[in-house]
Amino acid sequence: MSRIYSRIVASGSALPERVVTNHDLELMVETSDSWIRDRTGISERRVAAADETTCDLAERAAQMALQRAGVKASSLDLIIVGTTTPDLIFPSTACLLQHRLGADECGSFDVNAACSGFIYGLSIADQYIRAGNAKRVLVVGAETLTRMIDWEDRSTAVLFGDGAGAVILEPAIEAGILSTHIHASGAHADLLCADVGVSRGFREHEKNAGLHVLMKGNEVFKVAVRTLGRIVDETLGANNMDKSELDWLIPHQANLRIINATAKKLDMSMDQVIVTVNKHGNTSSGSVPLALDEGISDGRIKRGETLLLEAFGGGFTWGSALIKY
Ligand code: ACO
Repeated sequence: MSRIYSRIVASGSALPERVVTNHDLELMVETSDSWIRDRTGISERRVAAADETTCDLAERAAQMALQRAGVKASSLDLIIVGTTTPDLIFPSTACLLQHRLGADECGSFDVNAACSGFIYGLSIADQYIRAGNAKRVLVVGAETLTRMIDWEDRSTAVLFGDGAGAVILEPAIEAGILSTHIHASGAHADLLCADVGVSRGFREHEKNAGLHVLMKGNEVFKVAVRTLGRIVDETLGANNMDKSELDWLIPHQANLRIINATAKKLDMSMDQVIVTVNKHGNTSSGSVPLALDEGISDGRIKRGETLLLEAFGGGFTWGSALIKY
């Protein structure tokens, strides 16, 4: 029996309208446009309006993907939303999204793997399709991370942005997703975390503590570069593929220096890398599908090309997907 692959049939994306530039941030914290651009590659980011939620962005991205695929939401078998900034603690953003799309009764759940949320979701969706348990899956990465930013903390305020990306997956005889790889290590939760949950710190949050992203940036940076280097090797090795066979790198967009390091390891020119961090900042699980959709929509990524997607984030979590698009 021939192997079944999952194939990306269409993608979509959504960004809030409001642009916050580095110059805007110069008025809020002690920073400079040149520091932010030199250290991160970011020039501006999008920030959700006060009444705009993660599910709003997810819905726009999903509608675009459904429309491009030419399929109805009611035909979806599964909805997975990678997010670490859900609208509510429950119901999940995936359930809210399912109802808005009119896809009632298909299985729907969120995956919280911080910036690796979309890759984790893609990996789960791929298993469902390859096992024959789903024929059409919507995978979304959506975030409003700026909601939990301490705008007085220059070490994190300059890094993040809001946005969402989505893909529709269907079974195919030809690849398709060649492999996905996910990993986690909870040993260093203190290096990158949001400091409030439900069973820890919730009431304190009401009083004063606030909900913020805490990050020891330079330590995370070193682990990210090392770890992404390893997963790239693992992914190519699992497919007996040489790095020269890759057409596109679609990395998590946290920092241009991390992206450069991965591209260099792969001997890829920056012309083969989809970069959005300059105008989106780090949109966590939104970042990989936003970059993927940009490359597909502007015609750079073509059918039949080989794509390497990778992400690293809080947990730590990390993951990759090798795709014949
Ligand atoms: N403006 C000006 N100066 C600043 C700013 C700022 N916005 N932020 C920090 N500085 C200062 C620091 O105080 C420090 O000053 P000092 O030397 O006097 O002590 C100096 O700049 C250097 O600070 P570092 O933190 O060492 O700077 P670094 O080069 O490491 O860049 C950054 C910081 C951009 C955060 C980088 O470390 C990084 O990108 N880390 C990885 C982030 C990441 O990948 N996260 C994972 C995904 S996120 C998620 O999962 C939610």
